This record gives sequence, structure tokens and C-alpha cells, in this order.
Amino acid sequence: MRSVNLTKVVIPAAGLGTRFLPATKAMPKEMLPVVDRPAIQYVVEEAVSAGLTDVLMVTGRNKRPLEDHFDRAYELEDVLRAKGDTDRLSSVRTSSALASIHYVRQGDPRGLGHAVLCAELHVGREPFAVLLGDDLIDARDQVLPTMIDVQKRYGGSVLALMEVPPEQIHLYGCADVTATADPAVLRVTGLVEKPAPGAAPSNLAVIGRYVLAPEVFDELRSTPPGKGGEIQLTDALGTLLAKAPVHAVVFNGRRYDTGDRLTYLKAIVHLAGAHPELGEPFRAWLREQAPTLS
Ligand code: UTP
Repeated sequence: MRSVNLTKVVIPAAGLGTRFLPATKAMPKEMLPVVDRPAIQYVVEEAVSAGLTDVLMVTGRNKRPLEDHFDRAYELEDVLRAKGDTDRLSSVRTSSALASIHYVRQGDPRGLGHAVLCAELHVGREPFAVLLGDDLIDARDQVLPTMIDVQKRYGGSVLALMEVPPEQIHLYGCADVTATADPAVLRVTGLVEKPAPGAAPSNLAVIGRYVLAPEVFDELRSTPPGKGGEIQLTDALGTLLAKAPVHAVVFNGRRYDTGDRLTYLKAIVHLAGAHPELGEPFRAWLREQAPTLS
């Protein structure tokens, strides 16, 4: 099997973020701050640490703050330099120097599958990763390097699955799987987007990390709108798996959907608690507060 070096990552960030209104009325949810940087910066950092340095962001309306964040901010840099504030200067420059970042616009947010299809011209005919811009994987619990390794060994596409309580599976894409010779790798045999209660083939939810074969674009072009009237990536992968291998790894670590208000708050508490500078005083304050929370 020909092994292609994976360098490209697509980060869809064009959704409307209706679950987080009104905060997301004028600001993409991917730009909401988590401790001291926008959620999407964690996602770009995760990609870069896995060796994916060619980033394509799929943006929609309100894309300005995203582009500005990953661009140079000369005025701000000049002010910080003049003050001799080298720490803040370097924090401001980090985001613009992380990776080679490109943008494509998804004019009409017709679903995640449609957002990924917008990346076709940039990606070309090579495998690529998709990382959802509102889905944070704790840097202490990486899954992307394993997925890239599985793609190199098996070819095709690789999904990340997470066990969820059965009563929550209707909120996710759900995978039917069989074992492979490697206990850490599953073969995906079926996929259903947001299954009706009782109709889920498993409690394995598809989470926002994918390593995809370019054939997914061919499927997406002929995928009709599915759940919610949107073109679903899960549906395209469901037809792809009859033609090409789709494998999966199960992720057991910490993951936060920052597009959901409650998990967003949990993400902040977890990541602030682990922050090198803020962690210790924040944890002490939390311990003090615990008895007073009702
Ligand atoms: P979500 O399923 O969270 O949908 O998208 P959403 O529309 O953004 O948010 P809600 O449900 O209205 O609150 C998952 C990811 O796919 C992107 C989103 O930006 C998010 O990163 N997405 C979704 C697009 O880029 N385009 C779309 O048309 C839909």
C-alpha cells in the first residue's frame, strides 16, 4: 500500500452556532475564549503537534475575527514591543506563526458534509484530516497521532469514536463496528446520523476528528440532505464504507464540545485547572467555592 505523508487538515468553522446564541450572533463559536485563547487555536495547535501544518479553515459569515486572529497584528505588536512586554508579544505572535493557514468560504451553511466538500480544491487527491473547530481534545489525551498511524497502516479513512451513555447517542453520528486483528483498531461496518432512540447500532459516537480518503469528496457530491436538512458527513462515510475501508479508534480521553454551553463551561474549568500559571490559584479558589455552590 502506498503511504502518503499527511500534511493537510480541514477545520470547518462555518456553522451557525445556534445552540450558543446570543453569544454567537456576531462571533463564530470557534472564537469563544477558552481560558486565554479562542477554542479554535487549541484545534490548530493539536493539528500542528501531529505534524499537520497545512490548515484550511472553512469559514462562513462573521469570518473576520477568525482571519484576524491567525494574522499578524502589527499595531498591537509595536505597542507591546515598545513596552518591552515580551511575554505578551510572543503570545500575540504565536497564533500567526503556527501554521500555513488558508481559507475557503462556505457561502450557505448546508451542513458539515457540505463544508468538507468546500475543501476539495485545496486538498486534491490525497488523504487529509478534518478537525471540528468547536471540538476540543485535551492536549494531555491526544488521538490524532494514533489515527494518522492507523491510516498509514490500513489506508482508507479513520474515525474517532467515543462511548457515550445510550440515552445520549441520538445526539451523535453512531457507528456499527467489528473487531480487527489489532485490538486497538475497529472496522466500521455501518454509520447512522443521530439515530432515533432504540435504533442505534451501538453506543459508539463519532467525534470531531477524522482522517479521510479523498474518495469522500465523490460521495459527498451525491449525498442528499439528511438529518436537519443538512448534507451530513456521516451519510457520505456510510456510503463510502461499502467501497473503501473505514476504520476507527476508540478515544477514552477528555473532549469538550465548546458549541454546547454546559460542556463549554466544563472545558474552561478543566483547562484552567491545568493551566501552568492560572491552574494552582484557580483550583484553590474552586475548592473554596465548592461548599457555597447550590
Ligand atoms: P455543529 O453540528 O455543531 O453545527 O457543527 P452548528 O450549526 O455549527 O451549531 P449549532 O448546532 O447550530 O449550535 C459542527 C462543526 O461543523 C461546522 C461547525 O462550524 C462546527 O465546527 N459546520 C457545520 C460548518 O462548517 N458548516 C455547516 O454548514 C455546519
